[in-house]
Amino acid sequence: MTFPVVGMVGGGQLARMTHEAGIPLGIRFRLLSDTPDDSAAQAAGDVVIGDYRDLDTLRAFAKGCDVITFDHEHVPTEHLRALEAEGIPVRPGPDALVHAQDKGVMRARLTELGIPCPRHRVVADPADVARFAAEVGGFPVVLKTVRGGYDGKGVWVVRDAEHAAATTEPFRAGVAVLAEEKVDFARELAANVVRSPHGQAVAYPVVESVQVDGVCDTVIAPAPGIDPGLSLAAQELALRIASELGVTGHLAVELFETRDGRVLVNELAMRPHNSGHWTQDGAVTSQFANHLRAVLDLPLGDPRPRAPWTVMANVLGGDFPDMYQGYLHCMARDPAVKIHMYGKDVRPGRKVGHVNSYGDDLAEVRERARHAADYLRGVITE
Ligand SMILES: Nc1ncnc2c1ncn2[C@@H]1O[C@H](COP(=O)(O)OP(=O)(O)O)[C@@H](O)[C@H]1O
Ligand SMILES: [Mg+2]
Repeated sequence: MTFPVVGMVGGGQLARMTHEAGIPLGIRFRLLSDTPDDSAAQAAGDVVIGDYRDLDTLRAFAKGCDVITFDHEHVPTEHLRALEAEGIPVRPGPDALVHAQDKGVMRARLTELGIPCPRHRVVADPADVARFAAEVGGFPVVLKTVRGGYDGKGVWVVRDAEHAAATTEPFRAGVAVLAEEKVDFARELAANVVRSPHGQAVAYPVVESVQVDGVCDTVIAPAPGIDPGLSLAAQELALRIASELGVTGHLAVELFETRDGRVLVNELAMRPHNSGHWTQDGAVTSQFANHLRAVLDLPLGDPRPRAPWTVMANVLGGDFPDMYQGYLHCMARDPAVKIHMYGKDVRPGRKVGHVNSYGDDLAEVRERARHAADYLRGVITE
């Protein structure tokens, strides 16, 4: 018996932080990355450079891995089925993962399970968008490409009939387009759970997630002022989805909290997720460590928080390329703030890192995270 090799497909920051979480456990980590400069490829020792869309590349990568898991959801389903057929454990498996890959499949399945979602329908063209709007009581409506979107890319808000007629871009992407009613939500939440192949599951506290221009900006754990009944219901919902879909590993259920105190599912992610980054410093076991434990079918770690409040603020690229320059100020001002940088080049709006702060007073914890993130990005100078 020797330490297992976890193969992760995708060289982004999620792989980088999953690798990091496996080091204290002695878990060996193998990465399939597009380029040697990708975030995780800079840090990992065992890196295969190649295209995850190519089955032979995946096969060669998987040889010698005890299990395959993912930093993103873009590996073609048929390739994952082929790997499974050849005896390579794929976690989450293709039948679960398809619900994170295809928003149309996800909506159909959740609706079948009676899980509340925004009203939705696959639409054929701009004229069909106007018909859909009429069916749900009018504009605005949201259009989404069913596959390939992330960070708000692949999402369009359509204001009125004229705008619908002009919004042809989603229909040119070569995949189906899903229309949804635009939910007038009170806020966005995430219910994060981890499930293992032997069926154990743990639930993290439900968090509030604040998006700016479709990109996650701040996460507050737990969601401030959340009704305890709603929080429990959201955790149970996420556990039920994990179990019904047969998810293994980390599952993020993005939710809308409605103004009348219900939750609707926005989308699913079956990998570590931005709404779980707070767990690195704010929970007994991080989402990354628990994802590894789950894909290896080990007992899961305690998901409970270590402090009353943890706030994560993303560091998005701005006009200021030298993030390291900000360390002097941030570390001197706040020795307790935790900085996580991804080794990525700064580009406007790109996620290049995040900071976590935790403590007893929400307003103070929030200010400290906000300050450090804003200072690193260069939007404030003191
Ligand atoms: N039906 C909807 N009603 C209102 N806002 C929405 C709706 N769908 C998406 N959004 C907003 O757009 C963001 C991105 O949409 P999402 O489907 O999560 O795509 P992505 O894959 O880019 O994360 C959401 O976090 C939310 O702020
Ligand atoms: Mg999303």
